[in-house]
Formats: sequence, structure tokens, C-alpha cells
Amino acid sequence: MEFTGKTVLITGAAGGIGGATAHAFREAGANLVLSDLTLDSLPTGEGILAMASDVTDMSSVKAMVSAGKDRFGAIDVAINNAGIAGPRGRFADMDNALWHQLIAVNLTGMYHALRVEIDAMAPQGQGRIINIASLAGVLGAPGLAAYGATKHAVVGLTKSLAHELGPDGIRVNALCPSYIDTPMLDDINGDDKGKLQSELNAVGRFGTAQEMADALLWLASDANSFMNGQAVVLDGGISAI
Ligand SMILES: NC(=O)c1ccc[n+]([C@@H]2O[C@H](COP(=O)([O-])OP(=O)(O)OC[C@H]3O[C@@H](n4cnc5c(N)ncnc54)[C@H](O)[C@@H]3O)[C@@H](O)[C@H]2O)c1
Repeated sequence: MEFTGKTVLITGAAGGIGGATAHAFREAGANLVLSDLTLDSLPTGEGILAMASDVTDMSSVKAMVSAGKDRFGAIDVAINNAGIAGPRGRFADMDNALWHQLIAVNLTGMYHALRVEIDAMAPQGQGRIINIASLAGVLGAPGLAAYGATKHAVVGLTKSLAHELGPDGIRVNALCPSYIDTPMLDDINGDDKGKLQSELNAVGRFGTAQEMADALLWLASDANSFMNGQAVVLDGGISAI
């Protein structure tokens, strides 16, 4: 996949999937606009604009996107990846503060990023947006009900925006991973992680951040020219039965 001359923006770029994705797109020649909560967690180098930006704060997202457009001239691809999950637990026992935090980061944060990215892409007449949802965005997720609600919302936004923005040359898709071996998996499962590995999918292991990055390269590439409004599941076969 070739991205020379293209600019790719990634939120949550210091995390497992975000970090692997940033590396993959840089290797493919893209200029990068990378953001996460803190600047020192992000890679630096030629062709990289790294900025601290909290997706819950619209003004910081706006500053990041406009700095990226100023530096590189366009935002060709936006990968909205920042997210949190919190620990697995029964909905009936859920901490109110965690509910509000999940909505703020996973849903309102997505809203902020989308609003600003659309404003940047519409005058260009082209753009690709990939929202990182989850298998929990297309199937029920007992123990992660609130997280699943936010990810279903991300899939819903993706489908609606694909139709609203198609005429502007902007395509919007979602990637729905499940059980990818990143720090988030430890946050969710703690000590149960080992047990999950043997039980959950037909491939018999967790997915890797690199596998998500490889998929994102294709999803964002010119080779993928007709997909729009889809929630693409990468789960090692969990959802097949
Ligand atoms: N790991 C999995 O099994 C899995 C499965 C399905 C979906 N996902 C989704 O993939 C995405 C990436 O997750 P990951 O597995 O790489 O987890 P991760 O915890 O390694 O990375 C998430 C990144 O998001 C950043 N972030 C959190 N809150 C933020 C905020 N308010 N503003 C900006 N950045 C913020 C974190 O600092 C972190 O760097 C998330 O949206 C997650 O929900 C992960």
C-alpha cells in the first residue's frame, strides 16, 4: 500500500492499535498527524506532527486537525481510534462516573473528531474516515454493556455519515476488532486474560495490533474504492457462530 503524499490523522496514536497503525502508515510513506492525551507518549520524526489532544475537548481536537491541515495541506485519511473500555462488570453494579466517561470519550470524543474532520475534508472534495468501533458495536457485550452501547453508537454514526458525506467525496467506514492484545485488553480482563485466549475464537489466539494496522492500510487505500458505511469485523471468527 502506497501513501506517499497523503496525510493520515490518527487519534489515540500512543496506544496499541494506534501506535502500530501510525508506524504502518509512516512506513507506507504517509505524513502523519498523531494525537493522544500527552505529547511525550507519541512518536516524532520527519513527516510527523504530534500533538496532545483530548478528544473530549472539542477545541483541542480542532487545534490538532487545523494544525495538521496547515502543516501538510490536507487531511486525506482520519482514523478515529481513541477510546477507553474500563473493567468488565455487571451493568447493575456500574459506577456512574465510568458511564459518563465512556460516553465522553468513545461517543462525544468521536463526535468532536468527526465534526472537525468533516469541516477539513469537505472543501478538499475527498477524504476517508475510519472509526474504530468494536465487535461490541455490532453484537451484545455482557459485562461491557456501556462500552458496547458507545460502540453501537459509533457504528450508527458511521452508517448515517456514509450517506450524508458520500456526495462530498468522503467515505466513512468502521473497523470492529475483538480481543486484540493491547493495554486495553488488560484493563478489561485483568487476570482473566489467559482464560479468554483459549476460549474465544477459531484462530486460538488474540489478534495483534499489527493485524489491525494491516487491515487499516487496505481500508484506507485506493485499492478499497467502493466500500462505504460498513462495519468491518476482525475477530478471529468469534461472530461466525
Ligand atoms: N484491544 C481490543 O481488544 C479492542 C477491541 C475492540 C475495539 N478496540 C478499540 O480500539 C481502539 C484502540 O484501542 P487499543 O486496544 O489500542 O487500546 P489502548 O488503550 O492501547 O489505546 C487507546 C489510546 O487512546 C488514548 N485515549 C484515551 N482517552 C483519550 C482521550 N480522551 N483523548 C485522546 N486519546 C485518548 C489512550 O491514551 C491510548 O493511547 C479503541 O477505540 C478501542 O475501543 C480495541
